[in-house]
Amino acid sequence: MNLAGRNFLTLKDFTAEEIVYMIDLAAGLKDKKKKGIPVDTLRGKNIALIFEKTSTRTRCSFEVAAHDLGMGTTYLDPKSSQIGKKESIKDTARVLGRMFDGIEYRGFGQEIVETLAEYAGVPVWNGLTNEYHPTQMLADMLTIREHFGYLKGISLTYMGDARYNMGNSLMIACSKLGMHFTACSPEKYFPDPELVALCEEYAKESGGSITLTEYVDAGTKDKDVIYTDVWVSMGEPDEVWKERIEDLSPYKVTMDVMKNAGENSVFLHCLPAFHDLETEIGREISSRFGIDDMEVTDEVFESPHSLVFEEAENRMHTIKAVIAATMGA
Ligand code: CP
Ligand code: NVA
Repeated sequence: MNLAGRNFLTLKDFTAEEIVYMIDLAAGLKDKKKKGIPVDTLRGKNIALIFEKTSTRTRCSFEVAAHDLGMGTTYLDPKSSQIGKKESIKDTARVLGRMFDGIEYRGFGQEIVETLAEYAGVPVWNGLTNEYHPTQMLADMLTIREHFGYLKGISLTYMGDARYNMGNSLMIACSKLGMHFTACSPEKYFPDPELVALCEEYAKESGGSITLTEYVDAGTKDKDVIYTDVWVSMGEPDEVWKERIEDLSPYKVTMDVMKNAGENSVFLHCLPAFHDLETEIGREISSRFGIDDMEVTDEVFESPHSLVFEEAENRMHTIKAVIAATMGA
């Protein structure tokens, strides 16, 4: 398998074999890290990390992974570069492509990361756009595989706004890998029908399936994985909170949901999560709307069902695998 020189913009661009290859590579790199075996085969190379939205996991994963691989990193934060304000993405790509051996981009529309990839001449990695979050998928799949021992046949239900980056990406990943994906949300939050049709094609080939349902009981019954995400994503206006809370409250992951899913079900969340009042936004929303949690209860988040911190750790190992594979380490 040779992925050298490839961009990593969405899992739509990769076959199931290529995705599994990157998950295997990540598992191997994780094992080496635990044993203290160095993997600094990209010594002397440098990568740029562009973040037009904030981040804890993705940024730290790229930085630690690059460091472990022997590379230097330059972080461009949401405010201090010329990108998009004084300089177009096309020009930025041609400048950074001459200085760096790879570029990560987190920001808004998918077309931005695509333009960057078209003009950079070096591998470009999508660290989250409005539409997709592909590096998160590899971490989620590695976490599921570590827990259950396999991926094909696993059932995963995503509860919440299934039209956005996480719902889209999980539907793509599951349908490519022969898993059974359910989006459980009000109909207006169902993923784009065109993407659903494409994923149905993937599922036909892989033996997976796609279900869209408004019914929490049916949508979560006997599922292996229950997944949720914030109800309002980065970059969305403050005004949408009221409507989202009204619409999505019935789709909160509670202990009843986990019981319905079954004793052996696991809970995943890309994080950050609103499960208590220990955040500024959590407290603000609580005082405005009188709620103490949002997409998941603290009880589920802290329960033995929850693998969220294993999942967060796996961001680093899987991002290292993406960098290594695409840079030909
Ligand atoms: N899950 C995730 O992408 O986390 P960050 O926003 O902290 O990078
Ligand atoms: N849907 C969330 C994912 C965060 C990792 C967002 O875009 O903010």
